[in-house]
Amino acid sequence: MKTEAATRQVTDRQLNRYATFLYDRTGIRISPQKKTLLSNRLRRRMKALGIDDYDAYYELLTRLDPNDPEWDAFLQEITTHETYLFRDPNQWEWFSKKYLPAIQSEARKGQRPKSLRIWSAACSTGDEVYTIASCIASSLANHSQWKIEILGTDIGIGALEEAREARFGRRAMQQVPESLRRRFFTKVDGETWEPKPVLRNWTKFQQHNLMEPLKARSFDLIVIKNVLIYFDPGSKKTVFANVDRVLAKGGHLVTGPAEGISDLLKAYERIHPWLHRKPSK
Ligand SMILES: C[S@@+](CC[C@H](N)C(=O)[O-])C[C@H]1O[C@@H](n2cnc3c(N)ncnc32)[C@H](O)[C@@H]1O
Repeated sequence: MKTEAATRQVTDRQLNRYATFLYDRTGIRISPQKKTLLSNRLRRRMKALGIDDYDAYYELLTRLDPNDPEWDAFLQEITTHETYLFRDPNQWEWFSKKYLPAIQSEARKGQRPKSLRIWSAACSTGDEVYTIASCIASSLANHSQWKIEILGTDIGIGALEEAREARFGRRAMQQVPESLRRRFFTKVDGETWEPKPVLRNWTKFQQHNLMEPLKARSFDLIVIKNVLIYFDPGSKKTVFANVDRVLAKGGHLVTGPAEGISDLLKAYERIHPWLHRKPSK
């Protein structure tokens, strides 16, 4: 039989404290309807630590150093890391068939240097980063003559460790076109693939909270997908300002299909609901 501690839910007051804490640290909003979900997830961490009181776990969290592994374990429970390679195939079709040929043609005419900087913001376990790399390897002719940098960032340390390890299972690889899988990935065992060095050499991963400005030179393209949906309007505005700061003039922004930031993108050119271009002046 389950004990009371193993099944009871957070009270409204406790939910409120956890929600405010998470919001202040990450910009993510937990709605009151998520009471059961939050309770279940908190209990998993509390069980692992031998704590059976929501207030005691809350006190522990508020005292933690941001580098303490428990902070990341808490975040891993609370946030969604769902991702896989070639998610939203139409976006990668645009990237491979329109964007990359266009920059190639600009470079040929001497209108841009042979360099490309891309930021995959909230990249989770790196699947998006390796999708970008695979498209470049297959669609940018003479890419060895280009300076290519793909930065993947996420708030989750565990997710980034997986991204750096870059081992992708059957589910993550399911949408990767067969020809790309054969050319750019090596089978490690029956169920796992890893990207070849040509892709790895372009990638870099770094921990970053989207609520903070990223210290980096500007990017030609920024991909930020399936993360802003968890933020409220105030946090979306902060994140967008941080993204806009490091997007080059004339640069492209790829978002998820429903991030709810269209009112922030009024100054940008709308190419598709998920694709916007920053003015070049
Ligand atoms: C659902 S995944 C999206 C992964 C990928 N972009 C995609 O669309 O497949 C959301 C990611 O956002 C990250 N995240 C949540 N809040 C964040 C924040 N404040 N700063 C940076 N990353 C955050 C989570 O850790 C998680 O890995």
